[in-house]
Amino acid sequence: MNIILIGAQGSGKGTQAAMLAQSLGIRHIASGDLFRQAIDAQNDLGMQAKTYIERGDLVPDNITVRMILDRIEQPDCAAGVLFDGFPRTIAQAEALDSELVHIGRQIDVTVYLSVPREVLLKRLSGRYICRANQHVYNINTRPPKVAGICDLDGSELYQRSDDRGEAVQKRLDIFFNETLRLTDYYAAQHKLEEINGNQGIEQVHEALVRQIREHRDTTA
Ligand code: AP5
Ligand code: MG
Repeated sequence: MNIILIGAQGSGKGTQAAMLAQSLGIRHIASGDLFRQAIDAQNDLGMQAKTYIERGDLVPDNITVRMILDRIEQPDCAAGVLFDGFPRTIAQAEALDSELVHIGRQIDVTVYLSVPREVLLKRLSGRYICRANQHVYNINTRPPKVAGICDLDGSELYQRSDDRGEAVQKRLDIFFNETLRLTDYYAAQHKLEEINGNQGIEQVHEALVRQIREHRDTTA
């Protein structure tokens, strides 16, 4: 199965994708995580992406599309992919569709996690992620067992530079003005489901599993 999670910054894409990929046995591919790994590694991709990310802008389509298409050709993606944060523009969605046709695959379902803007801002201000594997925490709603340390791998927790200052508002504006258009794109293909992301993490997970199962059963 190939699934896309669409949602604003802080809607819970990363949190839910980690749980869902495990239960469905498919690979979680997060464009933002790949960019942050490249920035930490100080490689060419990281150098190209850094300034856009710190400003809260989208990285240009040509760089982003190449990175994702290269990644999904790897053998560990053969059983299916859960896309988190990609696509974000119509051009990216079209490039993904044509590549999937080329390799004899397709998107099965796209789920939009909807959360009100004021809740998103509150969640982002409390978010910390771990240095080693980008596991996600929240000082208000999902604190680690030991302050500042990841429960899963013991690495340091830090606040993303784009979760502070003007970058936060800019990222939300880009989502609501541009990325949200993808819901029309996938609705036209009868591949869109919507879930209320403004519930507890477990309830959102259960709703996601249920909705994906129902979509698969009705289109089988
Ligand atoms: P990316 O890393 O994808 O960031 P984002 O889209 O801004 O999304 P977030 O990671 O901020 O939110 P999330 O939905 O994953 O929320 P999370 O689960 O962490 O992208 C970063 C940058 O990279 C972009 O700005 C851009 O520059 C570039 N980029 C990436 N993809 C690109 C693309 N396709 N094209 C161009 N550029 C691209 O949850 C948030 C917080 O809320 C956490 O603290 C969590 O614990 C908490 N939380 C989660 N769920 C709940 C809940 N149900 N109740 C209470 N708290 C919750
Ligand atoms: Mg994320």
